[in-house]
Amino acid sequence: MKNRTALYATSLAVALACATAAEPLSLTIRADQPGAKINPAMWGIFFEDINLGADGGLYAELVKNRGFEFPDAMMGWSKVTTDAAQGELSIGTNVPFNAANPHYLRIKTGGKAAFGIANDGFRGIGVKAGETYDFSAQVRGVAGKPWFFVEIVDSSNAVLASARVKGISSDWKRYELQLKPNRTEANARLRLVIENEPGDTVDVDFISLFPQKTWKNRPGGLRADMVQALADLKPGFLRFPGGCIVEGSDLEKRYQWKTTIGPVDDRKLIINRWNYEFKHRLTPDYFQSFGLGFFEYFQLCEDIGATPLPILNCGMACQFNTGQLVPLAQLDPYIQDALDLIEFANGSTTSTWGAKRAAMGHAEPFNMKLLGVGNEQWGPQYIERYTAFAKAIKAQYPDIQLVSSAGPSPADDRFDFAWPKLRELKADIVDEHCYANPIWFLSSTHRFDNYDRNGPKVFFGEYAAQSDKIVSVENKNNWDCALAEAAYMTGMERNADVVRMASYAPLFAHIDGWQWTPNLIWTDNLRVHGTPNYYVQQLFMHNRGDVVLPVQLAGDDAPTAASGGIELSTFKGAAEFKDIVVTAGGKTLCSETTSTPGKRLGDNSWRDYTLTLKTRKISGPEGFIIRFRDEKPNTHVQWNLGGWGNTKHGIQSELGVQESIVAQVPGKIETGRWYDVKIELSGAKITCSLDGKIVQTAEVALPQREGVFASAARDERSGEIILKVANVHATPAIADITLDSVKKIVGEAKATTLAAKLSDVNSLDEPLKVSPVESTVTVHDKKFQHTFAPNSFTVLRLKAE
Ligand code: AHR
Repeated sequence: MKNRTALYATSLAVALACATAAEPLSLTIRADQPGAKINPAMWGIFFEDINLGADGGLYAELVKNRGFEFPDAMMGWSKVTTDAAQGELSIGTNVPFNAANPHYLRIKTGGKAAFGIANDGFRGIGVKAGETYDFSAQVRGVAGKPWFFVEIVDSSNAVLASARVKGISSDWKRYELQLKPNRTEANARLRLVIENEPGDTVDVDFISLFPQKTWKNRPGGLRADMVQALADLKPGFLRFPGGCIVEGSDLEKRYQWKTTIGPVDDRKLIINRWNYEFKHRLTPDYFQSFGLGFFEYFQLCEDIGATPLPILNCGMACQFNTGQLVPLAQLDPYIQDALDLIEFANGSTTSTWGAKRAAMGHAEPFNMKLLGVGNEQWGPQYIERYTAFAKAIKAQYPDIQLVSSAGPSPADDRFDFAWPKLRELKADIVDEHCYANPIWFLSSTHRFDNYDRNGPKVFFGEYAAQSDKIVSVENKNNWDCALAEAAYMTGMERNADVVRMASYAPLFAHIDGWQWTPNLIWTDNLRVHGTPNYYVQQLFMHNRGDVVLPVQLAGDDAPTAASGGIELSTFKGAAEFKDIVVTAGGKTLCSETTSTPGKRLGDNSWRDYTLTLKTRKISGPEGFIIRFRDEKPNTHVQWNLGGWGNTKHGIQSELGVQESIVAQVPGKIETGRWYDVKIELSGAKITCSLDGKIVQTAEVALPQREGVFASAARDERSGEIILKVANVHATPAIADITLDSVKKIVGEAKATTLAAKLSDVNSLDEPLKVSPVESTVTVHDKKFQHTFAPNSFTVLRLKAE
C-alpha cells in the first residue's frame, strides 16, 4: 500500500476546483440502526487449476511431466545430444519404482559424448540467482557404471548450476542434490546429461526440481510469492479445487479428492479439464499431478486464515462438455466420498480418514464447516443428486453447511428453475455465478435488496466484470471492470444478511499459459502482480466490518444510463426493412429508406425514442428481430417477432450476460406480408405495436453506466465506522456526510483510495499502477464534507463515539 498523502491532497484540490458547479450529495450513515451481521468469512477466494493455477503455478514443482505419465510420455522433454553421441531413449514399464506411476525413461549411451534429456518446465523454468533448488529423481542403474550431470541451463545452453549423480544402485533409489544458479533466468531448462562408456544404461523417473524457498519453506511445497499474494488479501474463505475441473469433461476425468492425498508419487495424474488447444494459447500439455492435493488445500487455508470450502463432484460431468450422469442408483460412492472427506478434515485420529490426515502430519482437525455439492450444475438431474447428497450428509453431519448450485448464469431458465427447488429443499447456501460486462454490475447493485430474507443464503461464488464478451487478450483486468465490481460489492455488503459469501473468479493466470480472461492475479515464472480487481477485493477483505449500517444517499439523481441505437435482423432467415424512422422529442434522429440486416443505426446518445419501420419476411423459420438501446458490445433490448419457432412475440433484454425474456405473447409472422412496426421507448417503459395495435409492453430498467454507490459497516473491535464509496463518474463527487446518532468523531480518519483511468491496467512491469493510496482526512464534526475523486473507490475509516 502506498502512502501518497501529498499527492492525494493535490489531486483533491484539483478535483474540488473542477467540481464547483455540482451540488454536494448527501450521504447519511445511520450509526444507531445496525443491521445484518457480516459473515467474518464474507469475502473469499476461488481457486481452480486453470491458467496454470496449480501445476505450473501455485504448486512449486518446476519440472513438467516429471513422471513420464502424460499420454505422450516425452511431452515436456527433449533429447540432448551432440553429433558424436548416439544414445537411445525409451519408455519402460517393467518393474517401475511405483505402480501408481508406471512409466519411466531408460537412457542408454551410444558413445562417449554428452547425451541426455532436458525439461522445458511449464513455460520455461524460472530460477533466481543465489537461491537453492532441490533436485530429486528416482534412478536405477541398468548396465555399466552410469552417472550423470544435473544442470540448470539458460536458453542458449549456458550452464547456470551443475551437480553430479553418481554411485547409482541397481535398484530404484531416490537421489537428491542441490543446485544454486549463478544468474536469474526466467526461461531456464533442467538437463540430465550422461558422458559414460557406450552402452551404459540408466532408468530415471519422478525427476523433480523445487525452489528451497517455498511457502513456509516446506519441501515440495507451494510457490511462496503466489501464496503471499493470497495471504496479503486476508481472505475469509478459500473455495477449492474449482471450477469445472471438479466436474471433469467426463466422469472418468472428474476430480477425486481421495487420489490427491498421501505420498505425492502415489497420486495418479489425470488430464486437466482445461487442456486444449485454445484459440489464443495452446495448452495441450495441461495435466493435474495433484502435488497440490486436498491435504495441501486444507493446510493452505489454515496458513492464510481462510475457512475451507471444498467442492465435490455430485455425479455429473461438466454440462458444457459431456454432461455425463451417474445413475441415481449408483450415486452412493460419490456420497461416500463426501462423508469421508468430512471425516478426513474433522474426524478423530482414530477414524479411518482422520488417521490418514494425521499420518500426513496434521493430527488436529481442519475444522471444515462448508461443503459444496457439485460445481456449476443445473437442471432436474442436479436437484435430484443434490437431494440425495443433502439427505445423507445432513443425517450424519447436520452442522455442515452445504453449498448448492444455481447454474452458470445469474438470470436464465436454469437459474429460475434451480432457485424455487432449492428453496423448497431448504438449501443452506446457493452458489450464483456471473461473468458480465461492467454495466451489468453497475445496474445490479440492488439485485439482493428484494431477496427473501428467510430463504437460502447466497454465495456469489464466481464473478468478474469483463471488458469484452470473448475470452481473449482483449478482455482486460482494467479499472473500469474493477470499479464496477467495487460498486456491486457495496450492494452485496448492504445485503450481508442474504449474501453470506462472495468470490471473484478465476484467481490465477500465467501470462504464457492461460485459457480464461480476466483473472485476479497474473504471474510469470518469477513474478506475480495483483490486478486492479485484486486491490478492490483486498480493500473489502481488509475493511469488512462486523455489522451493516444503513446509508442514505441523495442527490446523485443524474446517473447516466447506458443506451444505444438500433439493429434490424432475423433468426436464420431473410427479411426486408424499409421506411425506417427514429424520432425523439419532435426531432428526427434518423430516416433511412432501407437497411441491410445486421447494420447498426444510431449510437449511445440515443435513449428515449420512437422507431417506426415496415418489414416483410422473405424466408426462414421465424420472423424479425428488432434490437434497440443497443450499446455495444452486449447490452441491448430487442423485440423478437415470430420467435420460438414462429409461435411467440417477445421482448428480451441483455445486460452483458445473455438474453432474458421480459415479456412474451403468442404470435406469428406470415411470409411475404408487409408489417408496420412501432417501438416507443420512454424511460423504463417499452411499448411495441404491430400494424397500429399495441402487442406488448414491458418495463426494462435503463442499464446504469455511472453513479455513486455506497455501503457502511461498523468494526466492533475498533469501534470504527467503515464507509465504502464507489464514485463511478468522470467528475468528482462532493458529499456532505452525516454520521447520525454519533456523539463525535475522534481524531483523524483514514482514507484508502483507488483511482485511475478506466482503461488502466496493472502489469508485471507496472504492478502498482492501480493500487491503493492511503491518506488522512481531518474530520472535526460528525457532519463533514468529503470529495471522492473521479472514477474512484474509497474506504473511509472513522473513529466514532
Ligand atoms: O472460473 C472459470 C470457470 O467458469 C469455472 O471453472 C466454472 O465454474 C465457470 O464456468
